[in-house]
Amino acid sequence: MTAVLEVKEVSKVYGAGAGKVVAVDAVTLGLSKGEVLLIMGPSGSGKTTLLSIMGCILRPTSGEVRVAGKMVTTLGEEELPDIRKNHIGFVFQAFNLFPSLTAAENVELVLRLKGYDRKKIKAQALELLDKVGLVKRAGLYPADLSGGEKQRTSFARALAGDPPIILADEPTANLDSRTGREVLTLLRTLAEAAGKAIAIVSHDPKAEELAHRVVFLEDGRLKT
Ligand SMILES: Nc1ncnc2c1ncn2[C@@H]1O[C@H](COP(=O)(O)OP(=O)(O)O)[C@@H](O)[C@H]1O
Ligand SMILES: [Mg+2]
Repeated sequence: MTAVLEVKEVSKVYGAGAGKVVAVDAVTLGLSKGEVLLIMGPSGSGKTTLLSIMGCILRPTSGEVRVAGKMVTTLGEEELPDIRKNHIGFVFQAFNLFPSLTAAENVELVLRLKGYDRKKIKAQALELLDKVGLVKRAGLYPADLSGGEKQRTSFARALAGDPPIILADEPTANLDSRTGREVLTLLRTLAEAAGKAIAIVSHDPKAEELAHRVVFLEDGRLKT
């Protein structure tokens, strides 16, 4: 199967001289439509750095990144936001919701930033919240949502614009076990029913059960 996201020999070096850290070391990896790929590894092994490179949030020091067959490593800074907007939804561990906006408004904000037609945004936000099973809670503020509901809201936001690739960094780290399983099941459904290509970073044994494929990072290197 052809990968919708490919990294080839990517490395990331932070700092220089004695304080230099090789966070990701010559990693080659592909992510295909319809799969949930789990990236595991101890703390500090480079998982967040690798996921950020895959999400075009961070540039590698060396190596290539291709999104939908297009080489992005050679693109200018001004072209990267479009690649992210059209291809990638990112879910963060800490949810990153705006506390003063309702769940629906949090999603609407992203749709607005992505340049969607203002008249359609309210309906689209509700549609996205419906996809993650949260439409009934759309009018609530983050403080009134459970951890799982907050994480679902951040998934709804990541789905805005229907990106083919979803990347999630420790999406269950702040959730209880049952809610974590719900969120992981949702990811698997998004891969299998909607054909999304999904990569998640997690230590969660439940993620291992639900993923189609697991890779391990150690000191920035992919273990085989
Ligand atoms: N912005 C940064 N500047 C310097 N070092 C960093 C930075 N981000 C991460 N690192 C270092 O890179 C290594 C990998 O970090 P990270 O990708 O966050 O690993 P993980 O997500 O697996 O815990 C660690 O040694 C970490 O201290
Ligand atoms: Mg991390």
